[in-house]
Amino acid sequence: MKSANIVLIGDGAIGSSYAFNLLTSGVGGSLGIIDVNMTRVQGDVEDLSDALPYVAQKSIYAASYADVEYADLVVITAGVAQKPGETRLQLLAKNAAIITDITKNIMANHFDGIILVASNPVDVLTELVLRLTGLPRNRVLGSGTALDSARLRSEIGRRYNIDVRTVHAYIMGEHGDSEFPVWEFATIGGQPLTEFVPQAQQAGDFAALSDRVKKAAYSIIEKKGATFYGIAASLTRLTAAIINDDHAAFAMSVHLQGEYGLRDVSIGVPVILGGHGLDRILQLDLNTEDLAKLTNSAQVLKDNLATVI
Ligand code: LAC
Repeated sequence: MKSANIVLIGDGAIGSSYAFNLLTSGVGGSLGIIDVNMTRVQGDVEDLSDALPYVAQKSIYAASYADVEYADLVVITAGVAQKPGETRLQLLAKNAAIITDITKNIMANHFDGIILVASNPVDVLTELVLRLTGLPRNRVLGSGTALDSARLRSEIGRRYNIDVRTVHAYIMGEHGDSEFPVWEFATIGGQPLTEFVPQAQQAGDFAALSDRVKKAAYSIIEKKGATFYGIAASLTRLTAAIINDDHAAFAMSVHLQGEYGLRDVSIGVPVILGGHGLDRILQLDLNTEDLAKLTNSAQVLKDNLATVI
């Protein structure tokens, strides 16, 4: 594991779960935490520090914006979270204001690293951060459909009794209601899933699985008020891929410049992620129906962005 300086902005349920997960997975070198509630940050720093003797060495501290000057990676989880029944897009007005403020503070401090956005609606906010910072697109990324793709893999693994780690499948588009799975590109041991379970698509199996993925956050929020472990684990994995220059494939939110016939929008597509952030966008040969879904999803995101800029 390489060492890096990470600054986390937002110490709510997601941010603190991410901090704990980072620590216990030994990812990174130092972790600075910023929040509007710095008393809570101080408490988390003290609490997390108690775990240090059991994990790989790492320093944890209550950070200020001056610390982003030395950050290799800034992870943004700040903002209000979905309430039961609320969509991610309904958070936009409030979170755009919060994220704009945060972005200005980052850029006022000689920032020279990569930004990973997780606050919702993540695709719209990633595009907003990209535009506000003027940074190249490889350095402004959103967690996007990384979590949804993980959820899809889990659903497939459970349904067909396959180790989830050996299931490969992606959700593309908005991290939200207009997202969609690309079934033709789901594989198990190199075999397309559509051949592995030839009857499944007709039987409505696939529709049921992707429906559960789309509603996963709603279901969790209904039961426990918020989602945090799943997104925290996704953020930890994305962080590791950046810090360790993994060149690993994920679906996540990146700014398109003509890929899939789309531009001026950040949206979930499969990418290769490494030490410089976005290394390359994978252009899947989507069927007409899926391309239409992606185009529709991009329009939803653009329309929403237009309400805040
Ligand atoms: C979720 C939140 C992070 O899907 O959007 O769990």
